[in-house]
Amino acid sequence: MLIPPPLSLYVHLPWCVRKCPYCDFNSHQGKGALPFDDYIDALLRDLDQDLPLVWGRTVHSVFFGGGTPSLFPPEAIDRFLQAASSRLRFAPGLEITLETNPGTAEHGRFDRYREAGVNRISFGIQSFDDESLKKLGRIHDSREAEHAVKLAQDAGFDNFNLDLMYALPGQSLAMAEHDLERAFALQPAHISHYQLTLEPNTIFFARPPQGIPDEDHAWNMQEHCQALLADAGYGHYEVSAYARPGRQCGHNLNYWRFGDYLGVGAGAHGKITLGATQQILRRWKVKHPTAYLAQAGVPQGIGGDDDIAPERRPFEYMLNVLRLHEGFALADFPACTGLPVDRIAPQLAHAERQGWLAVGPTHVVPTALGRRFTNDVVALFLTD
Ligand SMILES: C[S@@+](CC[C@H](N)C(=O)[O-])C[C@H]1O[C@@H](n2cnc3c(N)ncnc32)[C@H](O)[C@@H]1O
Ligand code: SF4
Repeated sequence: MLIPPPLSLYVHLPWCVRKCPYCDFNSHQGKGALPFDDYIDALLRDLDQDLPLVWGRTVHSVFFGGGTPSLFPPEAIDRFLQAASSRLRFAPGLEITLETNPGTAEHGRFDRYREAGVNRISFGIQSFDDESLKKLGRIHDSREAEHAVKLAQDAGFDNFNLDLMYALPGQSLAMAEHDLERAFALQPAHISHYQLTLEPNTIFFARPPQGIPDEDHAWNMQEHCQALLADAGYGHYEVSAYARPGRQCGHNLNYWRFGDYLGVGAGAHGKITLGATQQILRRWKVKHPTAYLAQAGVPQGIGGDDDIAPERRPFEYMLNVLRLHEGFALADFPACTGLPVDRIAPQLAHAERQGWLAVGPTHVVPTALGRRFTNDVVALFLTD
């Protein structure tokens, strides 16, 4: 029996000052004056169209992702949040995150984001090494990045994340460690530490920059950086996510626990459990901002709807929960997938024999070896 899990709201804001050469997100270099007000109107039409999927449910987190959400003026974020909270029930004190490129931080803006209800900031820092930032095509240097974080702290944000990437072109282990030291000095509540990947359809994929560390070197960096993060008090709770106690990202945790989410905005994805029909629906929106502005809120604005068939649910569930160090509670599996635990018993036993999963009476937890081979573990649950 499927039981709808906690619900979150993802809001995609698709423009950036400049497209970074490694980035395959649905982000577009903004040209001229951006249509912020029209876009907020489109988001609200889009949300209205999705509301019947979630009548009566409470929203536990909101995440403005991009693109560069901090390009949007605080007044626009405020208007969206006010209108959304009049349409949906917001849980008291829910986490509201806004992604920020440090190159867009202006004095006074953070106070007004806070007044609008934003209570968590995620900064795209990437590195504190100015040469590396140039190679990554970033619009800010390390001094501006530190200044942006301080502006947010002055406005009262103590719950903030820093995104860092490692295995950068020409990066040594010492440089990767130094980036972490500079991050620690800013006392973030959370650090996301991503290995730079060469994604298809990016400039870096077509013309890889010189000096990208090989896999062994990258693995070595990851191990050393993990140890530094642990020493500094950041608990490793997901593949790339580290947090001070109690400061995990609630929004991302909900994804990884196979929770539900509405996705509004250009190219946004949602996943909603429909108790009445016992379906798990995936819905995505048209991708290009221009098409989205024209079509949001009418059926053509929905890029597609897909029902996750029962056979596919174990795989999709594992793809998410096995990213987490905590693994999952066996009791959550039937509630989230509508299937009995018996359905995955052979795969669990196999993974346990391989030393990939520790299967207890109530919980399943990936081992250190299992975390290294997550793709192989998850593949066991593919049925087609
Ligand atoms: C939407 S961006 C964050 C906010 C803002 N757009 C920025 O870049 O400052 C999400 C994060 O994903 C990470 N990321 C993007 N492309 C990546 C890639 N190819 N490999 C690894 N991490 C990547 C970066 O750390 C980036 O900060
Ligand atoms: S600013 Fe962020 S979203 Fe925009 S292109 Fe760069 S990494 Fe991608």
